[in-house]
Amino acid sequence: MQPKLIIHGGAGSSLKGKGGVESVRRSLNQVIEQVYALLKSGAKASDAVVLGCRLLEDDPRFNAGTGSVLQSDGQIRMSAALMDGTSQRFSGAINVSRVQHPIDLASYLQNSPDRVLSDYGSAELLRELQIPLYNPLTELRLEEWMRERQENFVKTMAGVVAEPELVENAGRGTIGVVVLDSQGNLAVGTSTGGKGFERIGRVSDSAMPAGNYATMHAAVSCTGIGEDIIDECLAARIVVRVTDGFSLHEAMKRTFAEAHKNQRDLGAIALDRTGAIAWGKTSEVLLAAFHDGEKIGDTLDDEGTLTGCVEG
Ligand code: GLY
Repeated sequence: MQPKLIIHGGAGSSLKGKGGVESVRRSLNQVIEQVYALLKSGAKASDAVVLGCRLLEDDPRFNAGTGSVLQSDGQIRMSAALMDGTSQRFSGAINVSRVQHPIDLASYLQNSPDRVLSDYGSAELLRELQIPLYNPLTELRLEEWMRERQENFVKTMAGVVAEPELVENAGRGTIGVVVLDSQGNLAVGTSTGGKGFERIGRVSDSAMPAGNYATMHAAVSCTGIGEDIIDECLAARIVVRVTDGFSLHEAMKRTFAEAHKNQRDLGAIALDRTGAIAWGKTSEVLLAAFHDGEKIGDTLDDEGTLTGCVEG
């Protein structure tokens, strides 16, 4: 079977006229190329998801791993989840600090009897696994926080992309990777630094089935305001619709029409077992790119429609 892949680096307000779009496109394309090469060599869907998430976590442009946003107290707390569609098993780490790749914790927890850990447990696990301490802070994210602190945190969230030109672009950063491998297995991973400037202890959607969900029928990763994603139960809602017989695009159209009506601010990427690739957003732009088996495409210039699809 031809492997398929879609990734995202967040969603937010229009990037038009702000510069930096080409560098976001290059970043996404580099990840697509590396992950797709692994998939072509016969890799398992979940291994390809972990590689894609690690690469996106390493890119300081995106709000996950290095380049994560700061919370109201100036600390970074990250969350990540992995779901394997074939085993239908979810694992995740919530509000973890001082680690380079939060997705590694989610990956380790796939085979643990306790599969979702919060801050304290995640820190203990990092220590047990002897994963070296790592500071994901970047200069741009610190400047962004200091600016907001001066203005007493009037912004409800941090910039989606950390570029000098784009950091003012209020957005909803997260990264996500959805894969269909050559054996027909689906997997999804999502990783985030959260909304930025949030209250200590706030929990992101990214390590919940609302933000990251897969079965053998479909897999979905979300981005946007976590509270909106949780209220729509977005990822699980789309996957259940496909499991109940809707085509992926029909499931996306219905779900995003509802989210739009409810004035949510969010986006999602998805794959189904037939190889259909889909995306949707209520925000102005979704930073997503995909490989359909023949070529790379992306959604960076698509600012009008709610959903799009490439059939399998
Ligand atoms: N979607 C990321 C967050 O709200 O934490």
